[in-house]
Amino acid sequence: MSATLGIIGSGNVGGTVARLAVAAGWNVVISNSRGPETLGEVVARLGKRARAATPAEAAQGSDLVVVTVPLLAYSRLPREALAGRTVIDTMNYYPERDGRIAQLDSREMTSSEFFQRHLPGARVVKAFNNIVCTQLGSLARPAGASDRSALPVSGDDNPAKAEVTNLLDALGYDATDIGTLAESWRYEPRSSLYCAPYLGTIPDGLARQEIAQWAWETPGVPVPAQTIKELADASVRGTLVGGEF
Ligand SMILES: NC(=O)c1ccc[n+]([C@@H]2O[C@H](COP(=O)([O-])OP(=O)(O)OC[C@H]3O[C@@H](n4cnc5c(N)ncnc54)[C@H](OP(=O)(O)O)[C@@H]3O)[C@@H](O)[C@H]2O)c1
Repeated sequence: MSATLGIIGSGNVGGTVARLAVAAGWNVVISNSRGPETLGEVVARLGKRARAATPAEAAQGSDLVVVTVPLLAYSRLPREALAGRTVIDTMNYYPERDGRIAQLDSREMTSSEFFQRHLPGARVVKAFNNIVCTQLGSLARPAGASDRSALPVSGDDNPAKAEVTNLLDALGYDATDIGTLAESWRYEPRSSLYCAPYLGTIPDGLARQEIAQWAWETPGVPVPAQTIKELADASVRGTLVGGEF
């Protein structure tokens, strides 16, 4: 029987992960903040393996759950339904969007540790946060392909990380283990592992706004596991916290 992926958040990342999962033969239960009745078109595009539900149903009826909402929504997530589950955190801290979070500004913890503390009963694994959704969709390749990319994963529970590694493999990616959630700053916004490696070389002569548009549209370049490991090892934690639009 096919495994089921629960997805909380049906936007850019949630929609892309759902598409990859369905293509890999997973069932998908997808949810958003406005209710399943608003997800008709999304589910129709995904096909027979997908259905819409509430966030709590997406969490309860699934083998693995992806939480992919703006970080500011963390406190509105179904905490009880997520307890006891492996939860993939794709979220990034963007103060402009999410408001200031003191524990993150002080670098007392990474955004995934912050999320894990909010969900003490869940096993949080950080993944998918350091690649633009366009490249996430376009760089997926079957196992063994010479141009397969890797994504970094981190988490405090090794069996949960193994579950997520298996999911990534099915979706078209190798996984590079970065360690615990405390180490996940190595691929948070402003790190050298954040989005840029998968973009490739920015064309000359583009204005800032044009670069953003190009980054949104380019299919990207493959980034093998060894490169992810080298970039993670070489990461230096700067003074600025959080991403900037
Ligand atoms: N965009 C990217 O390329 C990218 C790449 C890596 C990581 N990320 C990170 O991944 C997260 C999602 O990004 P995105 O671009 O996919 O966002 P998005 O397109 O704005 O979609 C956000 C989704 O979250 C849902 N949502 C918001 N509050 C919710 C709640 N309380 N309960 C359930 N669902 C809720 C929204 O539902 P409604 O529409 O019904 O409100 C929407 O479906 C963010 O933290 C972002 O920083 C983004």
